[in-house]
Amino acid sequence: FHVTWDADAAEKGGYDHFMMKEIHEQPKGLYETLMRRLNDDNTIKLDGITMTKADIESFNKVYIVACGTAYHAGLVGKAAIEKMARIPVEVDIASEFRYRDPFVDDKTLFIAISQSGETLDTLAALREAKRKGARILSVVNVVGSSVARESDDVFYTWAGPEIAVASTKAYTTQLMCMYLIALYMGHTKGVIDQDYYNRFIEELKQIPDKLEELLKKEKDVEAIAKKYCRKEQVFFIGRGVDSGVSYEGSLKLKEISYINSFAIAAGELKHGTIALIEEGTLVFALATQDFLFEKMLSNIQEIKARGANVVGIAKEGNREIEKQSSEVIYIPSCMDEVTPLLSVVPLQLFAYYVAKFRGCNIDKPKNLAKSVTVE
Ligand code: G6P
Repeated sequence: FHVTWDADAAEKGGYDHFMMKEIHEQPKGLYETLMRRLNDDNTIKLDGITMTKADIESFNKVYIVACGTAYHAGLVGKAAIEKMARIPVEVDIASEFRYRDPFVDDKTLFIAISQSGETLDTLAALREAKRKGARILSVVNVVGSSVARESDDVFYTWAGPEIAVASTKAYTTQLMCMYLIALYMGHTKGVIDQDYYNRFIEELKQIPDKLEELLKKEKDVEAIAKKYCRKEQVFFIGRGVDSGVSYEGSLKLKEISYINSFAIAAGELKHGTIALIEEGTLVFALATQDFLFEKMLSNIQEIKARGANVVGIAKEGNREIEKQSSEVIYIPSCMDEVTPLLSVVPLQLFAYYVAKFRGCNIDKPKNLAKSVTVE
């Protein structure tokens, strides 16, 4: 009796690639990231972090600084903190922030987001903010990493090790952390009422199951990827938090399939980019925000009129989008605020399958590193 044992395959837990394994680990990662922070009465324990009402009231500005996918998580974090805690938030790319003498002082909350905790530019930005007196909170996946060690407070994502260069479960768990920070700040400061707080926590609790549901549509996304995998250019559009997710979907695709992809806030299309839309151009249109749905439909109509193939992403039930789209992927219905936790997943799967059909090295794309520790 002879068993051939392949350590690499075993590590991938039956999946062909780490990226796919990690996509499927998202419900668990999100469950851990959330449930470890909730007390029985649904109050949030920010790990060991002490942030009093007076502390929160003393912040007149929040900077969220990061690179790559973590920066995209920051875009969603900005929307959440501004809405719930009513503090102006700027999201910056670490390599820009560190060289532009930003307005940071002891009334600034500086949030670094980093999967590895070793990205050089993020670390340098953090040091600069610290030198100027900001309070430093980091959202990090790797315990004991440089960013974690140099921060005043650390809030860990419970994603588990992420091996694929293209980040997936780190992103969604970073989002979960940003929602918890925003909820904590908004609730403690007294901006959001108890009813909204409770509803939001309930929504977050349902996300892991909803994500499992959504992952069952993998074959549909695979079929869409098969149909469009030879396109040389893909656009991603959305409004509000959907624009942040568009950037992430576009990054995923270009990272691993080497397709020239471009994301833009849908309302900005007509200021230039629409010139590139022609017969057969592939556009992913994210239309998950109820209050922006009509606006998105008219953007989709504009590109459809120019011959684009539109793949719509909308909430279950918003079927009006079907008239304007070649394909629609529905995400389970949920509050507008939390859609990024779901809507990014079909985009991750699309990038994965396109890369697979094109024969690309999915887990180790060319020219890219998992962690960029040099300038
Ligand atoms: C590299 C990785 C990306 C990651 C970025 C930031 O570019 O390939 O996946 O988003 O660095 O990394 P960090 O570890 O700071 O989140």
